[in-house]
Amino acid sequence: MAAALQQEVAKIRWFHSIDLGSGTVTPGIDRTASKLSRLALPADLTGKSVLDIGAWDGFFSFEAERRGASRVLAIDRWAESGWASRDGFDLAHSILGSKVEALKIDLFDLTPARVGVFDFVLFLGVLYHLREPLAGLERLRPLTREKLFVETHVDMLHCKEAAAAFYPGVELNGDPSSWWGPNPAAVAEWLNQAGFARTDLLYVQRPVWRFGHAAHLALLRGEKFMPAFRRGRAVFHAFPE
Ligand SMILES: C[S@@+](CC[C@H](N)C(=O)[O-])C[C@H]1O[C@@H](n2cnc3c(N)ncnc32)[C@H](O)[C@@H]1O
Repeated sequence: MAAALQQEVAKIRWFHSIDLGSGTVTPGIDRTASKLSRLALPADLTGKSVLDIGAWDGFFSFEAERRGASRVLAIDRWAESGWASRDGFDLAHSILGSKVEALKIDLFDLTPARVGVFDFVLFLGVLYHLREPLAGLERLRPLTREKLFVETHVDMLHCKEAAAAFYPGVELNGDPSSWWGPNPAAVAEWLNQAGFARTDLLYVQRPVWRFGHAAHLALLRGEKFMPAFRRGRAVFHAFPE
């Protein structure tokens, strides 16, 4: 049984590491566990409804279900096949015996009339993939009853004012599907403009923080420095009321 499952798992290119039981954990490339630890997702989600936008292999949807959520909807615009397809989600869903609902849809097509309103909305690793991030956040406001969790790539960390780097090509990790690198002040402003009443910044990671001072000095001197010096990840909670 375990050998057969491992064969199925091996056919898929995984993004998330998901414990499927029987000693099988999917070999995802994402640092899913550390992402989860930074979200401050309640340990008990009993009675809560959760919308996971850009769910991919579904780790966070299955985790919300495991924590007792009464309804979980995983949405993504999954590719038809290969990388970023729904194969991983479907296999994990079946092996876990999950009741998570899944919908292939672009987030710009989400409306409360179509999917409902959710206590918690997870928007993890998606913001910087949107060409029109402010319009995207505007779609999320009417779907969110209690709290929106935003986890995102950030850039321009050397700027105090709201600022965002624009990636028209493959400037971010060689990935043509990445468009924007906002700094935390910009994300907070976007959330505010999108209609969220309050935003808390929970976490900012500066991957090369120890070099940050040197990089800042280099900037002051007008020297070029690696963009990585000003990039990181951040987590926000946004409240509609
Ligand atoms: C970097 S992955 C993040 C996966 C997961 N949320 C996480 O944080 O580990 C981005 C996901 O968002 C999805 N995505 C990007 N833009 C989208 C859109 N406009 N509508 C729906 N899904 C989208 C992609 O297909 C991909 O699965």
